[in-house]
Amino acid sequence: MPRLDVIFAEVTEKNVEQLRLMNTRIFPVRYNDQFYKDVYKNIKLAQFALYNDTPVGAVGARVEAPEGSTTGEQTQLYIMTLGVLEPYRRCGVATQMLEYILDLVKTDAEFKELLTVVLHVQTNNDSALAFYKQHGFEITGHKENYYQKLEPSDCHILTYVIDRTAPDDGERKAGEANGYGTVAVDLAAEQATLKALRKQQMDRPPPVAMKKNPETGEMEEFHSDALKDDLPDEEAEEAAIEIPVGDDY
Ligand SMILES: CC(C)(COP(=O)(O)OP(=O)(O)OC[C@H]1O[C@@H](n2cnc3c(N)ncnc32)[C@H](O)[C@@H]1OP(=O)(O)O)[C@@H](O)C(=O)NCCC(=O)NCCS
Repeated sequence: MPRLDVIFAEVTEKNVEQLRLMNTRIFPVRYNDQFYKDVYKNIKLAQFALYNDTPVGAVGARVEAPEGSTTGEQTQLYIMTLGVLEPYRRCGVATQMLEYILDLVKTDAEFKELLTVVLHVQTNNDSALAFYKQHGFEITGHKENYYQKLEPSDCHILTYVIDRTAPDDGERKAGEANGYGTVAVDLAAEQATLKALRKQQMDRPPPVAMKKNPETGEMEEFHSDALKDDLPDEEAEEAAIEIPVGDDY
């Protein structure tokens, strides 16, 4: 299937009905009015994927405390809905939406406290399971009778652990991909080599004038009064400095 490059557009109060329409066609469950009031509270987390200016998919997520958390710290991003209209599937649209979300939580300071990205998937939703596993999610739990009106009613809990040790500031290591392709040069190693070379050069004794001895043919040090400069040597210079006393500066 060809890859369809999509662009993103925020879900807002004005276009939220479009999201309702789309979700009705994508998901077997109906989301209530409260969902559509809350979904664009953080517009970064509610986005349409547009292909040729037409919405072909959408994602909605929220920040929350993990279930059973005793501290109530909001360290989890919960994906409520992520779906693509049937004719546009297997063209990388969901991948681009998920990459948008994962990139956001890794690079946007607003989400720096987040540790995981979590969602529920109906146990028979093989395409979603394959999709999320392909993107580094793992099944971390199950819930029975999660969907009251669906058969099967059970769901898997899928979790993605956000790697906070990975470089996220554009300074990627050689061999890693950045937005433009694969980084071919290890800049850090390159800099260390240059520094070592520079030090080597600075540590070398100053060059000595050499001249070929016409009789022996050997190279010998060459000393000539003509090569001497008339600069004062350092000690003499230091001794000559007078510090004025009693002058106001
Ligand atoms: C799951 C879903 C979002 C995937 O969307 P998509 O745009 O088709 O996904 P992508 O094209 O980005 O797929 C990326 C990869 O995921 C895997 N994948 C996606 N759909 C798959 C399927 N039906 N069967 C097997 N693997 C699948 C494949 O590895 C695929 O790569 P490939 O096409 O190069 O083989 C889409 O099927 C959908 O909207 N389903 C209904 C809503 C839903 O269940 N959402 C998940 C719960 S929030």
